[in-house]
Order: sequence, then C-alpha cells, then structure tokens
Amino acid sequence: EFEVVAARSGKTITVPSDKSIADALIDAGIVPTLSCEQGICGTCLTRVISGDVDHRDTYQTEKEKLENKQMSICCSRAKSKQLVLDI
Ligand code: FES
Repeated sequence: EFEVVAARSGKTITVPSDKSIADALIDAGIVPTLSCEQGICGTCLTRVISGDVDHRDTYQTEKEKLENKQMSICCSRAKSKQLVLDI
C-alpha cells in the first residue's frame, strides 16, 4: 500500500494493494474523470506533483512515463511511499 495526497482538497488517502488510486479517491469523496479504467484511453491522466510512479498504462509513451509528469490513476501505482497528485 502507499499514500496519495490529493493536493486540491488536501486529503491524504491510503491506497491498499487491492484497490486502484481512482477507487481509493472515490471512497474519499473525490470523483475522478474515468472512462476505460484499463490504462488505454488516457482520460484519467492526472498531473504528478511529486513521487515515483509505477506506470501501468499503455496510453503514455515510454518517454512520457520516464518524465513522470502525469499518470493514469485508473491502473498505475506508486514506487515511492507517497504520491502527491494535482487532483
Ligand atoms: Fe482510461 Fe484511465 S480511464 S486510461
């Protein structure tokens, strides 16, 4: 599990291993914009303020993934203990 800080609301949520970031946000009352929920469409891309992302989408290029500027919150996870996201 890891922590996500939703910077716009200032909420810190815990994302358990069996739940996506998007679902954990929904549980915390934050409603992300989602579509495919499979890492394909890019609808859920969210700006990464800090933290290392474990990118699992197929939407972004390898270069974009290395830049670590945005992530798909429907399926990607964290390599670091905490991610701060612009949501
Ligand atoms: Fe389609 Fe996340 S909702 S990539």
